[in-house]
Amino acid sequence: MEISNTIKYLGVNDRAIDLFEGQYKVPNGMAYNSYLILDDKNAVLDTVDVHFTEEWLQNLKAALGSRQPDYLIVQHMEPDHSAGITVFAEAYPDATIIASAPAFTMMKQFLGTDFADRRIIIKDGDTLSLGAHSLTFLSAPMVHWPEVMVTYDSFEKILFSADAFGKFGALDAEDDWADEARRYYIGIVGKYGMQVQNLLKKTASVTIQKICPLHGPVLKDNLDYYLHLYDIWSSYAVETDGVFIAYTSIYGHTKEAALLLAQKLREAGCPSVAIADLAREDMAACAANAFRYSRLVLATPTYNAGVFPFMREFLQHLTERNFQNRTVAFIENGSWALTASKTMKSMLEGCKNLTFAENEVHIKSALSEESLAQLETLAAELCKDCSSQS
Ligand code: FEO
Repeated sequence: MEISNTIKYLGVNDRAIDLFEGQYKVPNGMAYNSYLILDDKNAVLDTVDVHFTEEWLQNLKAALGSRQPDYLIVQHMEPDHSAGITVFAEAYPDATIIASAPAFTMMKQFLGTDFADRRIIIKDGDTLSLGAHSLTFLSAPMVHWPEVMVTYDSFEKILFSADAFGKFGALDAEDDWADEARRYYIGIVGKYGMQVQNLLKKTASVTIQKICPLHGPVLKDNLDYYLHLYDIWSSYAVETDGVFIAYTSIYGHTKEAALLLAQKLREAGCPSVAIADLAREDMAACAANAFRYSRLVLATPTYNAGVFPFMREFLQHLTERNFQNRTVAFIENGSWALTASKTMKSMLEGCKNLTFAENEVHIKSALSEESLAQLETLAAELCKDCSSQS
């Protein structure tokens, strides 16, 4: 695959992987991207996962032809991109390894060497001329590890963005970019919105015509769309006006309340309503939805004087990713000593700028006239600010 006349794609599709980073379900696999810039000097950007280093090396050899690589630029040391460094260094002993100082520290830890005799240590703003191509390295700490550098090629106006603008899924996956990029972003980088904002500010002053991430497709058209989504996600702003109802249920009574609320919201004209059973649906997608919508409803039985385990896990996913700027409503169930709402509120205590709905639903075992009335009132409260109602 050609990115341009002088930039070649070296990456691979991983269709065998079940859990990315040991936790994220990836039914459509993953792509580990790597690029080669051909010029007076030839530079490789990043490598791939350990299971694909031979395939990657063959891709590199084919793209090089009779040429030799002069540089390997290591933007990110996470092993899904750095497992090929050793085979590269052995195959091309005259090539120089380029990375940030913390990346070389990690190289020593992961690979047993920091290439002290054949390296260039780069810092924010450093440049490298390959001939026509002029590369500027921009530090992007915590996007998604502290050592990360992204690379801007001013000749072709390409941003090599490391993990930023990546997504789950192999390159031939037929899925929605935003859905899988959001799930990836919130899961992997969600905690580091401020750092992503810093990166967006750094790159705002340059013209970008293509974005080459380390996962997912090269982005060429309508870049404003992708940049806008990244700005929304990293500023914890609302992407979609609507309600996401996340529930857990043991015997179906809490589920019944959640479904009924969804129905009432739709009937009242709520512009968008999504609902998920936290025990059965992908937790990463549920977390992404919590960040996507303007309002979140948490519905759960009381369990061991707290909340049902899947709700506890869900809330942990949100709080450790700096969940903020949303309206949250509560539906609790319990046959004795209801404590779920109180527990959920205390779990969300450290979140910034959350508004708790005034109305709550308290179900005692099963929906009753009283709790149905509470559900009605909650639906009205959640809908009163919907844009379609205003
Ligand atoms: Fe795709 Fe943070 O590695």
